[in-house]
Amino acid sequence: MPSTTQRAARLAGAAFLVLAAHQAQAADPVKVGFMLPYSGTYAALGTAIENGFKLYVQQQGGKLAGREVEYVKVDDESNPAKGPENANRLIKRDKVDVVIGTVHSGVAMALAKAAKDSDTTLIVANAGADAITGPMCGPGIFRTSFTNWQPAYAMGPVAAAKGHKTAITVTWKYAAGDEAVAGFREGFEKSGGKVVKDLTVPFPNVEFQSVLTEIAASKPDMVFTFFAGGGAVKFVQDYAAAGLGKNIPLYGSGFLTDGTLQAQGASAQGLLTTLHYADGLNTPRDNAFRADYNKAYKLAPDVYAVQGYDAAQLLQAGLAAVQGDIGKKAEMRRAMRAATIDSPRGPFTLSAAGNPVQDIYLRKVEGLENKVVEVAVKQLADPARGCKL
Ligand code: PHB
Repeated sequence: MPSTTQRAARLAGAAFLVLAAHQAQAADPVKVGFMLPYSGTYAALGTAIENGFKLYVQQQGGKLAGREVEYVKVDDESNPAKGPENANRLIKRDKVDVVIGTVHSGVAMALAKAAKDSDTTLIVANAGADAITGPMCGPGIFRTSFTNWQPAYAMGPVAAAKGHKTAITVTWKYAAGDEAVAGFREGFEKSGGKVVKDLTVPFPNVEFQSVLTEIAASKPDMVFTFFAGGGAVKFVQDYAAAGLGKNIPLYGSGFLTDGTLQAQGASAQGLLTTLHYADGLNTPRDNAFRADYNKAYKLAPDVYAVQGYDAAQLLQAGLAAVQGDIGKKAEMRRAMRAATIDSPRGPFTLSAAGNPVQDIYLRKVEGLENKVVEVAVKQLADPARGCKL
């Protein structure tokens, strides 16, 4: 039987070990996994997200809530077939604390499943797959970007107000394209318009000749489209080269012209798009962000950079609430869900499903900018169909 003194000594020893472990954990860096495309049609988007995230961390002196940050990266190539394997490289092999990813909706679905299965916190910094904050929603699943439905829905009333009655849609055949088209259809038809035809090309194909021929022959009042990255550059150039823009105006979710204007040049001038970010917001918050981003990367930021930046802000909000103790998952996630993010786009909150409730801007391409025209829909919340928490 140990004496009282021996027991007290043992307890003190145990307490010391717990304390030491705790201190070691606090001294360890927070491990952030970037699962992003660094090659292929969305490569520039992945880099912008990483740049934005790192800029915010640098602004906090290289730490989040007092913890150093260590980065691990995987190039997901926007390839859904490799999604599960790539997600598990970060989660199981590298044992990251949190995953930031990704751009492509199909890859993000695989990532969200892996994150849920392993109870890893995930911040989606682009992919709009409606299901992620719909049927697949969960306490550890967050998004700092949009649902595919959101910006596309907002274009519906805008296009109808311009007097357009009929529309053809054209996009890549995968979740992001299909869901953007569904969102536009909902907004447009609610406002009195009619989508008369849906055209698609396989992702990431950029052979647009046959869809352009079909648009020319069908003569709708307008075309609505979802393309992004390298594909958006080519589509806008081909649409202009085919001479369609004069008679059949082209509209889209703002990805069509974000981060792409340098390459699109004259072919993009005057295009109207809807998105949760715009150039020329001219708020002190956005001006400061843009100046810092410019200084750090010698580049103007785009929507992807903003989403990455806000992913870091969201993580900071969670970590601050638990004094950097990322082991307190439930408490950290509750704080993240309750946060108001002071975004360059304007402040936003998260819905119960974890998706931004945000203003959607109407923008017009002028030179190298997507100049804000007005707020198309204020504080638009995704309906989060199928999310049960
Ligand atoms: C998507 O796949 O969800 C996606 C990709 C690129 C974008 C927007 C959405 O610019």
